[in-house]
Amino acid sequence: MRQRPNNRLKGQSAIVTGSSSGIGKAIAIGLARDGANVVVNYHSDEEGANHTLAEIEKLNLHGSAIKFKADVSKEEAVEEMFAKAIDTFGTVDILVANAGLQKDAPLHEMELKDWQLVIDVNLTGQFLCARAAIREFLRRGMRKDVSCALGKIIHISSVHDIIPWAGHANYAASKGALTMLMQSIAQGYGKYKIRCNNVSPGAIRTPINEDAWKTKAAYNKLMKLIPSDRIGEVEDVAALCSWLASDEADYIQGTTLYVDGGMTCYPGFTENG
Ligand code: BGC
Repeated sequence: MRQRPNNRLKGQSAIVTGSSSGIGKAIAIGLARDGANVVVNYHSDEEGANHTLAEIEKLNLHGSAIKFKADVSKEEAVEEMFAKAIDTFGTVDILVANAGLQKDAPLHEMELKDWQLVIDVNLTGQFLCARAAIREFLRRGMRKDVSCALGKIIHISSVHDIIPWAGHANYAASKGALTMLMQSIAQGYGKYKIRCNNVSPGAIRTPINEDAWKTKAAYNKLMKLIPSDRIGEVEDVAALCSWLASDEADYIQGTTLYVDGGMTCYPGFTENG
């Protein structure tokens, strides 16, 4: 456990989308460990969401957690999720928009439905959740007793918001666009004390990229891309998100924080170019 429990998010409530597994699950647990109430959002993996809840309950801290099924690409579902969060916890202080997926194919073989699905979930889903969060922050007003921010939005992006990725153009396009969404939010709502930032993970050990780390050969190949010479773990991302959601990060605004072991340093150029 890299994150030591503390109370920096006590009294705050968070929605973490896609927290039935992988990075989202670790983020939900991490926020709870720091005292937040958490909505564990899932799309189809209810068992996974139950497991996240069980892990949070084991921590036995001040906050509580509920699960909520919602497809983040659907306007009505997102509205219902926020209504449930507000009904249960009184408001939402922190949004970690993490839900995302890959539907990989070389561009000339990519079907429109796979392009569309990735854009719908990874980009439109982020827009719908951010919009709902901003509306709630503005409605509710400041809560100086819990935070010096009106609200915090963390979009989970990817190193592929800056590293092109052949065979994954839908995914890279969705993440690249997310940079402009995030910066536009920060630019427009910073004056209301809303903070909006992106967290961009590199290769993190989750089911989404199993092919890249499961076998020794794949893992060794992957290491050519990572100066830190290890794959990332979900806790690496979770620890950053908890800090970023807290007032300790009050001056972090409109930026992208990479959690990638140096992948964005393009190590392929070390002895080349
Ligand atoms: C992708 C992973 C990939 C990593 C580094 C992530 O955004 O979801 O599949 O391993 O980027 O390339």
